[in-house]
Amino acid sequence: MSDNGLPVVNSWNEWDPLQEIVVGSADGAAFEPTEPGNRPQVRDGSAASFPTGPKSAEVKALANEELDGLAVLLTAQGVTVRRPDTYDFSLPVRTPHFEVESQYCAVCPRDVMITLGNEIVEATMSRRGRYFENEPYRRLVYEYWESDPRVSWTVAPKPTMSDAMYRADFWDWAIEERHQRMHASEFCVTQAEVVFDAADMIRFGRDIVVQESMTTNRAGIRWLKRTLEPKGFRVHPVHFPLDFFPSHIDCTFIPLRPGLILTNPDRPIHSDERPLFTENGWQLVDAPEPMLSNTDMPKHCQSSKWLSMNVLSISPTKIICEAQEKPLQDLLHDLGFEVFPVPFRNVFEYGGSLHCATWDIRRDGGPEDYFPSLTRERIR
Ligand code: ARG
Repeated sequence: MSDNGLPVVNSWNEWDPLQEIVVGSADGAAFEPTEPGNRPQVRDGSAASFPTGPKSAEVKALANEELDGLAVLLTAQGVTVRRPDTYDFSLPVRTPHFEVESQYCAVCPRDVMITLGNEIVEATMSRRGRYFENEPYRRLVYEYWESDPRVSWTVAPKPTMSDAMYRADFWDWAIEERHQRMHASEFCVTQAEVVFDAADMIRFGRDIVVQESMTTNRAGIRWLKRTLEPKGFRVHPVHFPLDFFPSHIDCTFIPLRPGLILTNPDRPIHSDERPLFTENGWQLVDAPEPMLSNTDMPKHCQSSKWLSMNVLSISPTKIICEAQEKPLQDLLHDLGFEVFPVPFRNVFEYGGSLHCATWDIRRDGGPEDYFPSLTRERIR
């Protein structure tokens, strides 16, 4: 049991006062492999082939220094910080259905692991190189699960990740085709198997919002609905039609406290889905232009400049923001937050920032209903 009687695992949303969190680590990291679900590209516009094998000791040390800095800040705020086990991601993986030359990293636990109330869910994952990415967190999962009988643990069904699960030509689609197919929400994974990454979900108490994307398909969303709705959650699929390569919702739509969501001005939510939020008293506030342009991002980073808005809440009034993102810090300050800047640019190399690089285990609070119109509809 935790000090204040809450279950050891208890986190229902993105903003309640934080008590315990896992911060990722660059130890053992490798370059993400090229595979049907991912075609990483060097960002300098050259056609240079993407490197393979382990990341250099220097690049890992730079990221680790910033990850450790985040851990220090959180600890000073009274938060218990845990770290993943070391794992050699340069090892290949071979299953009966596929083979891949290396794996990726444990910098972004958010992509793999999610706490939904008192339950830990391990995602199916969507890429071969990330098939075993749950492993560095297993020791922690066992510890939480063994230490409190109120904690439950669910591992989603592993897809085959065989060739048939992917659309091999996705990466070559011309822009017009991309536009057309995108509106049908068809990306690099087909609908044949259950597929989701944990970071396509964002938590609002009883309500879980999940983005359909390159990393989460409709079968994955059906699995989440049927698994979570009998437990009292409501699962809402959402779409951001202007994002041609959607993956992970936390650079697009981040709730900061009850009634306030930070949104991405380049990626407005589908007009049919917006009322769910606005009719329940949620204000959508656009993030300012990031300090880095897409071309200034680290050479091997596969995420967009919108890593700028990947903030982490310590509580409904305290928030951690990347140190150089001054315009966002100013906005958050004007919105009434105490802002904690932390340098994190070297972590961008691994495709994530503050929210991606963490996995919250325990926050105060419970399964509040932040969407009363849905409850009223059900009663009517
Ligand atoms: N696809 C997002 C973007 O480029 C990056 C998401 C990163 N999030 C994460 N949890 N790894 O804007």
